[in-house]
Amino acid sequence: MGWPVMHSRSPLLHNHWFGKHGLAGTYVPFAIRPEHLAAALRALHPLGFAGCNLTIPHKQQAMTIVDEVDTVGRRIGAISCVVVRPDGSLAGSNNDCYGFIQNLRQSQPGWRADAGPVAVLGAGGGSRAVCYALAQEGAKQIRLVNRTFARAKGIAEEFGGPIEALPWESRHDALDGAAMVVNATSQGMTGQPALDIRLDKLPKSALAADIIYTPLETPFLAAARSRGNRAVNGLGMLLHQGRPAWKAWFGIEPEVTPELRDLLERSLSAQG
Ligand SMILES: NC(=O)c1ccc[n+]([C@@H]2O[C@H](COP(=O)([O-])OP(=O)(O)OC[C@H]3O[C@@H](n4cnc5c(N)ncnc54)[C@H](OP(=O)(O)O)[C@@H]3O)[C@@H](O)[C@H]2O)c1
Repeated sequence: MGWPVMHSRSPLLHNHWFGKHGLAGTYVPFAIRPEHLAAALRALHPLGFAGCNLTIPHKQQAMTIVDEVDTVGRRIGAISCVVVRPDGSLAGSNNDCYGFIQNLRQSQPGWRADAGPVAVLGAGGGSRAVCYALAQEGAKQIRLVNRTFARAKGIAEEFGGPIEALPWESRHDALDGAAMVVNATSQGMTGQPALDIRLDKLPKSALAADIIYTPLETPFLAAARSRGNRAVNGLGMLLHQGRPAWKAWFGIEPEVTPELRDLLERSLSAQG
């Protein structure tokens, strides 16, 4: 459920797994106006759905509608997945953290959150999941930079631990000595200007990650790759967050295979 939702690649992902696991089901996009979200979620049970995923702008509002929210969802302040329980009650969870970390594990074997300072750019919903995940994974220092400083400060105060909020002007210097930099802003997305950042202070050994997957290679990732940094795009985060959803809906843990990545990459490339 999203508004809008027709651009979503989730149906392609989940229907691939339906075919792979021989389940007689289907995953459909529902364009739901925010004012209809409660009624739509409550209709899942009578309509026979196992659950749903939530995307912009529903992730926060849905928390106030479902009957129970897990710890990760409560800490992040947003849910990305709803499970319809046998009695018809609704359980909410956030699988974005899992998706972010598992994507790094799969694409960068040996990756560790505590390898050195991590710079995170952006302090929106995606960033909250990234910061929470990195802190849970043992990151020792997270330099959180956002255009609106108050939002970064809010996350640092709420999550505490290794997160230090820094003003937007310091974003270039925040890369000094970093083991990893994550773009969690919307800058570089199709239709948006490129992220305005200089990479000269970023060590060549650092990993550059973007949570954006349209386009697959943002100008930020392209710049990092061209100077020799390893680069990870946001597609794997989307793919991996689907796995715990399937575990909860059907008791199955589907795989993120090269074939599945290829299917999604071809669909995204065809979009241009
Ligand atoms: N791969 C995945 O599974 C996944 C999951 C979640 C999100 N995403 C992607 O991540 C991106 C961000 O999503 P979101 O939900 O976090 O969005 P959001 O909550 O709207 O946050 C947007 C972020 O971008 C910053 N920003 C916007 N315009 C900017 C500009 N001109 N200069 C500098 N910073 C700017 C905002 O800063 P201010 O606070 O100053 O406005 C904010 O930090 C989207 O492209 C989304 O598709 C991917």
